[in-house]
Amino acid sequence: MSGAILSVRDVHKVYGGVHALNGLSLEVEAGEVHCVVGPNGAGKSTFFKTLIGVERPTSGSVVYKGQDVTRLPAFRRARLGLSVKFQNISAFGELTALQNLFVPLRRNHPKAAIPERASAVLAKVGLAGLEDVEVRRLSHGQQQWLSIGLSIAAEPDVLLLDEPAAGLSADETVKTADLIRELNGQGMTIIVIEHDMAFIRSLNARTSVLHYGRLFAQGAFDEIAANADVRRIYLGTA
Ligand SMILES: Nc1ncnc2c1ncn2[C@@H]1O[C@H](COP(=O)(O)OP(=O)(O)OP(=O)(O)O)[C@@H](O)[C@H]1O
Ligand SMILES: [Mg+2]
Repeated sequence: MSGAILSVRDVHKVYGGVHALNGLSLEVEAGEVHCVVGPNGAGKSTFFKTLIGVERPTSGSVVYKGQDVTRLPAFRRARLGLSVKFQNISAFGELTALQNLFVPLRRNHPKAAIPERASAVLAKVGLAGLEDVEVRRLSHGQQQWLSIGLSIAAEPDVLLLDEPAAGLSADETVKTADLIRELNGQGMTIIVIEHDMAFIRSLNARTSVLHYGRLFAQGAFDEIAANADVRRIYLGTA
C-alpha cells in the first residue's frame, strides 16, 4: 500500500516460550486514525513497543516513511517523528502542569520560548488555565491529557496511544475522543489501542483486530463489530 507511513512485516516477538507476536503484518496509512483491538495478551502493547523501538522483533521488520527502522533505537525513532503514550501517567506529580512540559520542549526550543510553547501545548490538550496546578492535584482524566501533551510536545507525525480511555469517566472519554479527532485533523497519524468499545465506536476509524500475535481481521469499525469470528474470539471460543 503506497499510503503507508508505518508498517510491520511478518514480525515475531518471542519472550522465553511466549510468542507475543507471531507473524504480524499491518500497515498504518498516513493521516488516519487506526484502532487496534483484541483480547488480553493478543500482542497489542508488544506491537507498540516494536514500532517505537523499546523492543526489537525476534524477526521481521518495521518500516517508517519508507525507511527500515527495525534496528534503530527508540530515541532515533522519536527524532524521526514517532511518539507514544503508554497507559501509565508519565508526568511528575510534584511539578506543575506547565513545568512538566519544560522537559520535552527543552531539546527543540530556545529557553525563552519554552513557557509560551508549554502553555500552547496545554491549551491544545484542554488544560488551559491549569498551568500552575501541581499534577497530583489534577483529576485522572486531566493527568491523562497532560501525558498526551508530553507525547505531542515535540510535534510527532505519528502518535501511539495505549488505552487512553482506561479509567476515565464517560465525560472524560468523550473529551479524549474529541482530542484525538482534533489532533488527527491537524495532520497527525494516530494509532489507538483500546478495550472500550463505545470509545472505539465513537472514533469510527479503521480497526485492526489482533489475536495470538497476528492480524485476525481488519476493516471499518462497524464491519469489525458485526464480524461473527471477532465476536467469538472475545468470548474465548476461537
Ligand atoms: N516482557 C515480557 N516478558 C514475557 N512475556 C511478555 C512480556 N511482554 C508481554 N509478554 C506476553 O506476551 C503476550 C502479549 O502481551 P501484550 O502485553 O502485548 O498483550 P496486550 O494485547 O497488550 O494485552 P492487554 O490487552 O492485556 O494489554 C502476553 O502473553 C504477555 O504475557
Ligand atoms: Mg496491552
